[in-house]
Amino acid sequence: MNTDVTTALNWRYAVKEFDSSKKVSEEDLHTILESARLAPSSIGIEAWRFLVIENPEIRTQLRSAAFGQSKVTGASHIVVLTARTDVRENIANERVERTAANQHQEVSELSGLKATLDNAIAGKSDEALAAWVKSQTYIALGMMIETASLLNVDNCPMEGFDNAQVDAILKLSDQNLTSVSMLALGYRDPSDRTAALPKTRRCFEEVIHFVK
Ligand SMILES: Cc1cc2nc3c(=O)[nH]c(=O)nc-3n(C[C@H](O)[C@H](O)[C@H](O)COP(=O)(O)O)c2cc1C
Repeated sequence: MNTDVTTALNWRYAVKEFDSSKKVSEEDLHTILESARLAPSSIGIEAWRFLVIENPEIRTQLRSAAFGQSKVTGASHIVVLTARTDVRENIANERVERTAANQHQEVSELSGLKATLDNAIAGKSDEALAAWVKSQTYIALGMMIETASLLNVDNCPMEGFDNAQVDAILKLSDQNLTSVSMLALGYRDPSDRTAALPKTRRCFEEVIHFVK
């Protein structure tokens, strides 16, 4: 077992109160955001955008959309994870063009990849497609949580907000996006008594089964 990783994951908890005077360095923030950008996605569609909310007025509006959760204004940084809503129309072509440019190939050489994407998308109802795309943003959320924790940056994932309100505040529908979750980043406030609570998790044997 790599004790550094396990120590960091035991150290982290869903922070309730951040010390608003402490800021995450640009370097650490960039590393955390890179781990979202580099997250894997199904068939590599990367149908997401991660919004770092720097505007204090918008943070205040988001806090009220998040049922008053103080971390939305108290944390050093708030990242809103969004999913693309124009997947059926655009995402297959974007993926193929991105790959072709990256691999110095013609788009026509990637017809197999294009067919895989088209089939995966065509085979899903609008509801299933939206759920598929949203679920992938959680991989990026998890990777940012782990990276932040390894850097000793406190964090709290958040779904406790009104998605429609957040979409309206950030004008997300104009950008073919919808909000899925948020990640608060910063440093725990000493007044946050949650930090002292023991971690509540099912035991290893209950959730990990080796199938021999
Ligand atoms: C997707 C997701 C959404 C969450 N939303 C919130 C939230 O809105 N507010 C909050 O205080 N905690 C939120 N949490 C934190 C969980 O309640 C917390 O991770 C869980 O109770 C386990 O506690 P621990 O992370 O402190 O070990 C969320 C966690 C996840 C994974």
